[in-house]
Amino acid sequence: MSANHPISFNVISSDLKKASADALVIGVGKGADGAVLLDSPLTASTVKSLKESLAALGVTGDADQLVRLPGLPDTGAKVLVLAGVGKLAGTEITEESLRRAAGSAVRQLAGLAHVVLALPTTAVEQVSALAEGAALGAYQYDSLHSNKAGNKAAVAKVTIYSALAKDPKLAAALLRASTVAKAVNATRTLVNEPPSRLYPATFAEAAKDLAKGLPVKVTVMDEKRLLKDGFGGIMGVGQGSSRPPRMVKMEYKSDKAVADLALVGKGITFDSGGISIKPGAGMITMKCDMAGAAAVLNTVLAVAELGLPVNVTGWLCIAENMPSGTAIRPSDVLTILGGKTVEVLNTDAEGRLVMADGLVAASHEFPDVIIDVATLTGAQVVALGHRTAAVMGDDGVSAALKAAADRAGELIWPMPLPEELRPSLDSPVADLANIGERMGGMMTAAVFLQEFIGKDKNGETIPWAHLDIAGPAFNEGAPYGYTPKQGTGMAVRTLVAYVEDVVARSNQR
Ligand code: BES
Ligand code: MN
Ligand code: ZN
Repeated sequence: MSANHPISFNVISSDLKKASADALVIGVGKGADGAVLLDSPLTASTVKSLKESLAALGVTGDADQLVRLPGLPDTGAKVLVLAGVGKLAGTEITEESLRRAAGSAVRQLAGLAHVVLALPTTAVEQVSALAEGAALGAYQYDSLHSNKAGNKAAVAKVTIYSALAKDPKLAAALLRASTVAKAVNATRTLVNEPPSRLYPATFAEAAKDLAKGLPVKVTVMDEKRLLKDGFGGIMGVGQGSSRPPRMVKMEYKSDKAVADLALVGKGITFDSGGISIKPGAGMITMKCDMAGAAAVLNTVLAVAELGLPVNVTGWLCIAENMPSGTAIRPSDVLTILGGKTVEVLNTDAEGRLVMADGLVAASHEFPDVIIDVATLTGAQVVALGHRTAAVMGDDGVSAALKAAADRAGELIWPMPLPEELRPSLDSPVADLANIGERMGGMMTAAVFLQEFIGKDKNGETIPWAHLDIAGPAFNEGAPYGYTPKQGTGMAVRTLVAYVEDVVARSNQR
């Protein structure tokens, strides 16, 4: 599996010319009365002439706008680049607009080796947002094109120009930014891999490979073990494929742990729909159906690499959903781990079947909280579009995830879990059917998952929330900000931020 090359960072607060970079990037905001040149290290006279030219240059300050000018004498770079940061709300520029502007610039400047980012920063968090955005924007999938001559190499070196260069908190913030970006980029690569290369056995191998050198124990359960131990959901979904399923358990334990967290991810390496086969057009993006498991995998690794004081267990529920003579049929009944039975009325509602096993397995270890991540429903995309994920579950966990997403710069939105949807999942032959009310199908799927959340040692239901990332996990459109085409790495940043928030809250107590 190809690894993305990390970019190198440094931060300077003077000697711009000595940097002798390929490009100097400065910011332009979109103000109420047109483009606004943001603070930069350029001399007053350069700033004055630039300001006079902005309108004639067609510079608007819109996000993703990138205008290249010749490198002026005081830039010390071959080109001067004006990068849009989008609408300005007051004087503060949000961390996310800096992250996006840095990502967009670095992405669009591929082909150049060394880029200086001189966007305004007044807090360490803003510097690390620039670094994170740049590392995300530099991502490239090492594609399978036979002729790569026309490919532009990703930017290899980024220098951030900031007055905060000597701030004592900077080193840790930059390390966090590059660790998180590495986790997001590794998630993207797993999603981008074609299913001919990434199938259950190779996905499990990739989990082991990526964990090498980190204090993470990886246990791969193969089909014999899954059959023996009663993982009927994963086995059922995987039985139509020539490539048998896997459950991968990834454990990180800290001796200073303040909480025990379980993460469960949907890992369908290809979702054809099975016997209830998808129409051709709906199948095209279905290599992305393991994005939840890839996000869980890389979140566990990032948390371990950052040495956060928590225990985290990731459960990757991995199978390939294929039609064949051995595939499950509509009306077959599966027995999920723990004994609940499910009548499969639609083999394309397979995510909830593999996740049921994962949620039960996670519950058996009595974690303080369970969070699951899945590209679960087309209805999620209809409800919230291509960029916003949904969170459903217990109010406390959902609110904490929403707050973490806001801080991390990912879009998630809370949705309800209406009780009245539960009877729509009744089956005449089993405990549950795998499909129910079609309208609001995202919530129906979440209500199904809820049935498999176990109880803690006091008999209370374990706190839980579910992230449906069907829309934002995969970008079918053009790249924007730091988001490339195809796999986006959705949910990793939210999950890492959530774990950090759990730690911060326990420190306040
Ligand atoms: N993997 C799909 C959901 C999906 C759709 C993810 C679009 C990403 C983009 C899931 O397994 C699925 O097929 N769900 C069905 C459920 C239905 C049969 C109840 C769906 O949404 O149509
Ligand atoms: Mn499906
Ligand atoms: Zn699926």
